[in-house]
Amino acid sequence: MKVQDKYYRTVWMEDGVVKLINQPLLPDKFEIYSSKDYQQTAQAIKTMIVRGAGAIGAAAGYALAQAFFADEDRKKAAEVIKNTRPTAQNLFYAVERVLKANDKEEALKIAIQIADEDAEACKKIGEFGESLIEHGAKILTHCNAGWLAFVDWGTALSPIYRAIRKGKEVFVYVNETRPRLQGARLTAWELSQEKVPHAIIADNAAGYYMKKQEINFVITGADRIALNGDTANKIGTYTKSVLAKENNIPFYIAAPTSTIDFHCPSGEHIPIEERDEKEVLEVRGVRLSPQESRAKNPAFDVTPHEYIKGIITEKGIFTPDQIKDLATD
Ligand code: MRU
Repeated sequence: MKVQDKYYRTVWMEDGVVKLINQPLLPDKFEIYSSKDYQQTAQAIKTMIVRGAGAIGAAAGYALAQAFFADEDRKKAAEVIKNTRPTAQNLFYAVERVLKANDKEEALKIAIQIADEDAEACKKIGEFGESLIEHGAKILTHCNAGWLAFVDWGTALSPIYRAIRKGKEVFVYVNETRPRLQGARLTAWELSQEKVPHAIIADNAAGYYMKKQEINFVITGADRIALNGDTANKIGTYTKSVLAKENNIPFYIAAPTSTIDFHCPSGEHIPIEERDEKEVLEVRGVRLSPQESRAKNPAFDVTPHEYIKGIITEKGIFTPDQIKDLATD
């Protein structure tokens, strides 16, 4: 995708250095972060300089390739990388694939393949998903499942970009997505770059607009999909899915098949990341709450499959109960 007329990917590698769009700086500053070794790349995943399932996966693949080139203990490096964030399946998918390499050249080749496949899958998700978007659609999305969360195009936002390019009118309601505000900061920034009409709403406002039928389509990304179609995504997604069902609004998930955990039978087995309470207690370093108060900060929740109308992948659009059949592909 383009930023000020220049084509960028969210994650790439140049002369052994992993390059990342520095996401905590957005939307104020657009800057590229350079990571020279696997430890630094792992730290960038942990601190969310790079975030979003596909982008984390691509960065993890490149991180392990860096370890191969530095002649580090691969198994140890793989463990360090896997211990950065527990929920996004793409991270584990990428590490396991690169770990199978016999030498550094092959490791790099696989890491590049993973990034390329991610971009290509997201493009296809856009093509399949666009068919679901009607001219005049009023769409709700949660968190950021755009190109900043993947190598290119994104998942939930990819069908929207495609619809806009085809001349359809759409309006996007962007949940702000407390506590880290990926919606208000990142999705809003992406949509502005693409000139997609949108409004940021407080997370609590979605039900108000759904009840009035001012939202008629909901699409979000996924961080891990279980075999029965239960889907982990950013905290607050479950609430939106229940509201969508209550108001007869179709609720779709968009994700590449690399987000499916074929060893995970259902949502209750998906590990949910618990992050620092400061993210809830503070906004940009300013404390909002009494010093005595503690906070809880789960980063994801699970939307049960019965709330999901369809899952848009690079292989087509599936009902949740068809997800298990993709395992044999
Ligand atoms: O904690 P993050 O920002 O890495 O969360 C991941 C997400 O961006 C969302 O849950 C998103 O909707 C999934 S698509 C990558």
